[in-house]
Amino acid sequence: MKTIRFGIIGGGLMGREFASAAARWCHLPKMDVRPEIVAVCDKNPALFEWYQNHFPSVKQTTDDYRALLANENVDAVYIAVPHNLHREVYCAAIDAGKHLMGEKPFGIDLPANETILATAARHKDVFVRCCSQMPFLPGVQHIGKIIESGELGQVIEVETGFLHSSDMNADKPINWKRMVEINGRYGVLGDLGMHACHVPFRAGWRPRNVRAILSNIVKQRPDGKGKLVPCETWDNGTLLCETLDPATGETFPWTFKAFRIAPGEKNTWYVKILGTKTSVRWSTKNPKRLEVLRYDGGEQTWGRIDVGVDTAFESITGGIFELGFSDAVQQMWAGYVYELVHGQPKSKFAGCVTPAEANLSHKLFTAALESNENHSTVNL
Ligand SMILES: NC(=O)c1ccc[n+]([C@@H]2O[C@H](COP(=O)([O-])OP(=O)(O)OC[C@H]3O[C@@H](n4cnc5c(N)ncnc54)[C@H](O)[C@@H]3O)[C@@H](O)[C@H]2O)c1
Repeated sequence: MKTIRFGIIGGGLMGREFASAAARWCHLPKMDVRPEIVAVCDKNPALFEWYQNHFPSVKQTTDDYRALLANENVDAVYIAVPHNLHREVYCAAIDAGKHLMGEKPFGIDLPANETILATAARHKDVFVRCCSQMPFLPGVQHIGKIIESGELGQVIEVETGFLHSSDMNADKPINWKRMVEINGRYGVLGDLGMHACHVPFRAGWRPRNVRAILSNIVKQRPDGKGKLVPCETWDNGTLLCETLDPATGETFPWTFKAFRIAPGEKNTWYVKILGTKTSVRWSTKNPKRLEVLRYDGGEQTWGRIDVGVDTAFESITGGIFELGFSDAVQQMWAGYVYELVHGQPKSKFAGCVTPAEANLSHKLFTAALESNENHSTVNL
């Protein structure tokens, strides 16, 4: 079993998910490579105790990411810091020769993203990917196989999205994700958008143009100190893209939604694809249920499949059981270390988002900002 020694920079929510996934690697009995957490960096030292209590392998805790990058016992880093720090910290990690799993949006804006890509291009021996775990859920893996097999026929229409309702409460104090200078001008697109792009981009579908409507619904929020302050980020974004499927040479409409204010939705990631031969739909709302319609000239009937633990990377859990968010995170990390060691993903949809795919999302979101501002359709 090969071991990849990881440092975590930004040990908050997602850093702990990664560490927890690494701690139960015995769950994936067929893996020939495993991650080990050896160093943690965060500006908030209160986070270190959890790592130190649960991971004897953690030998370094620091508030200085440069000290972590100088650690020769670190092979790879997971960086989950606010968006305004992506360019600086990702580039420093790549320059230090550390393999990188970066968080979305992979740069606060297109120039930051292109600097990260240029740095990666100078270090071809460094493996660089962007975090996005939802497609590792079995329903989506199943859809990936249908896309790959060509069973869809000609794509008629695609809808993808990620819907939250955590910002419904206008009394929720502002945090960095609602501040343009730290989260970026993309607002919700930078925060949730990559999740909605992953499957279409991995399928090879390419948006040619976009008409976007972005909404700032809650324009002021409490600052947590008794005052109301401006909240200028986009809460919700709807994008309609004319999208090319290179497999058929035909275009189709792709509707993309990233909402922070979606009444009734907690963490709803969904995909719906209509094809001339096969149509599919799936959502985290009902994660076991995959719906498929196969058209052979007869009745058009949506069938329902209960998907169990049919994962890209075999697990010890029985096939009839259910998967959850933390399992998807573990599967994604299996995808990362597998591709790092084997040089290619185990299958097309079992690979993490590439820098080129992250760059495409930036081009789309930058065009979306222009479209929204000018009320126009913008070519990519
Ligand atoms: N993949 C997902 O589903 C998912 C979910 C949430 C967030 N994210 C992404 O993860 C990243 C972090 O978001 P979060 O929700 O974890 O935010 P967070 O605020 O919970 O965590 C960020 C951490 O970075 C630390 N930090 C800030 N500046 C630092 C510095 N200079 N050096 C070291 N540490 C520093 C903070 O102290 C904090 O602990 C963002 O890019 C976000 O878009 C991804």
